[in-house]
Amino acid sequence: MSDSKIESILHEERRFEPSAAFTANANVSGMEQYRQLCQQAEEDWQGFWGDCARREMDWDKPFSTVYDGSDAPHHKWFNDGELNISANCLDRHLSTRGDKTAIIFEDDAGTTELWSYRQLHEAVCRFANGLLAAGLQRGDRVIIYMPMRPQAVVAMQACARIGAVHSVVFGGFSAKSLEDRIQDAGAKMVITADESVRGGKAIALKATVDAALSACSHQVQTVVVYQRSGAPVAMQEGRDVYWHDFSDHQSTDCPPVALNAEAPLFILYTSGSTGKPKGILHTCGGYLLGSILSMRWVFDYQENDVYWCTADVGWITGHTYVCYGPLAVGATQVIFEGIPTYPHAGRFWEIIAKHKVTTFYTAPTAIRSLIKAGADLPKQHDLSSLRILGTVGEPINPEAWMWYHEVVGGRRCPIVDTWWQTETGSNVIAPLPGAITTKPGSCTLPLPGLFAAVVDEQGNDVGNGEGGYLVIKKPWPSQLRTIWGDDQRYCDTYYPANIAGGRFYVAGDSARCDEDGYFWIMGRIDDVLNVSGHRLGTMEIESALVANPKIAEAAVVGRPDELTGEAVVAFVVLKGERPTAENATALMTELRDWVGKEIGAIAKPKEIRFGDNLPKTRSGKIMRRLLRIIAAGEEITQDVSTLENPAILEQLKEKIG
Ligand code: WT7
Repeated sequence: MSDSKIESILHEERRFEPSAAFTANANVSGMEQYRQLCQQAEEDWQGFWGDCARREMDWDKPFSTVYDGSDAPHHKWFNDGELNISANCLDRHLSTRGDKTAIIFEDDAGTTELWSYRQLHEAVCRFANGLLAAGLQRGDRVIIYMPMRPQAVVAMQACARIGAVHSVVFGGFSAKSLEDRIQDAGAKMVITADESVRGGKAIALKATVDAALSACSHQVQTVVVYQRSGAPVAMQEGRDVYWHDFSDHQSTDCPPVALNAEAPLFILYTSGSTGKPKGILHTCGGYLLGSILSMRWVFDYQENDVYWCTADVGWITGHTYVCYGPLAVGATQVIFEGIPTYPHAGRFWEIIAKHKVTTFYTAPTAIRSLIKAGADLPKQHDLSSLRILGTVGEPINPEAWMWYHEVVGGRRCPIVDTWWQTETGSNVIAPLPGAITTKPGSCTLPLPGLFAAVVDEQGNDVGNGEGGYLVIKKPWPSQLRTIWGDDQRYCDTYYPANIAGGRFYVAGDSARCDEDGYFWIMGRIDDVLNVSGHRLGTMEIESALVANPKIAEAAVVGRPDELTGEAVVAFVVLKGERPTAENATALMTELRDWVGKEIGAIAKPKEIRFGDNLPKTRSGKIMRRLLRIIAAGEEITQDVSTLENPAILEQLKEKIG
């Protein structure tokens, strides 16, 4: 986000106080109670987290130490305690909520299927027994490449039940991305489906798995295939097995194994500043605690809520606020297989009305595209069941915030703008809706026990209104533990020596605080783009581009985009001639498809510009700053005399084709 935009957001004057009626029934009722929780966490940090963990979770073996930082920045929480996540999400509800609906599943075509806690528990036990029968052991890695259906949750929960480590790969990623993750995780098994069906279109998943595995030197022993569409797929003898053959005959009795609180729960890959995605590792105890507390604090979870988080399980939001958080608190949640605009642009509103959703959590990019698709459409549906609206993934522009508030929420529903990351495991900065007054565009204040701050390089708090590094000063239970297979990168990325001497968790975002201590997120400080709330590393896209035999060199930057927040712009130097107006379009399509194949459709550049070279300093460093200005269509006003080749700028400003 540009500086001028932040300035204007900081002058946002609108304030929305929680209503008295909302506050009266809220889990955290009023500012005083919020302050008290924060104070408890400050005065007795370990006591605070220890109490929360004992109160909110079922432990097979109680912990005696809350936090162990003897090997910092490696953090251990509740380390000698033992528990099972799946038991905390399912078994513990059976006596009180066995017949309660856990999942309201609506498929792409609009058919609804209800899963009670008992049914979900049975399905998870059967599948977990299948995993055991296949020889899977504690700590083994499993790749899950599934459509957004209850079976994805079953697979994840089943892994958690036996102590296997899942790594979900979003169904939109390419065979190449899938292959990289299978290799990096050293997975023994892949769980997938024949196809996924979204917006009436089928996407081959099994064929992509086959392509990934044929290129993999690493040995995957089993591929489980859920039949979503029934489309014929190749099944490799001895390796591939259909879900029903794997699971249906298994017993519904599968005792959850007691796992150390620090046992790995999952790896989730996300983009960073290098070409190689990072395998973010989360562990059992602390992660679950974060997801439960944020369900109570931020989503103000109440027993009769119908919760709907629209994120796919391929992202962290789908882990914490679909697979784990809602189940751990015993919620009824909607899982939706399709897309917001199919078969009509009012699909989300229709689903909210149909299932009487109370708590709706989605991304700013979805909100903006829904405004575009029909700003009046929500009015055609009865949205009176809604009581809380959430957003996540990128800063929400105040206009979209206001529309969400007025048209979707009927001015009645608090908006929780939640700042967090794959690495933080759960919400870090977000309003507690019965306590904190909101301001459009700000994620407001940190959750109790989360010591977020904006600091300079030395680690000093910057003044109100000044930009700086967003950090978290103390460890917290749900933070990542390491980067899978690359602990040094973990230390260097999140506790870098050049910011505050490595004392604080550095998020990689810049932010400002206003006079009320409210946080305003400005954007990333590293070479990471945020496209539709998803992280994309510029280096990753660059390496994909230069892997194309026609390309000599490439630089990728982001430019502001009305719908997706940021859009990918690639500057490309070909090995041969610069294209002409006649052949440029075909080449651009070819290169965009290439990136789609290398990474996935979300990484395809929106725009490609061609030059005979890239703007470089005399030492050969690409001046991305200038490329960003060109990509945004702005005039370059700064001195470019340090450039080796200033003339190249004119060429790059030109759009060919
Ligand atoms: C990055 C994390 C956490 C789930 C979704 C994305 C940006 C996230 C907000 C927000 C402003 C936000 C940050 C962050 N971000 N939420 N409410 N306001 N920016 O997870 O892929 O790990 O990306 O998304 O830049 O660092 P992720």
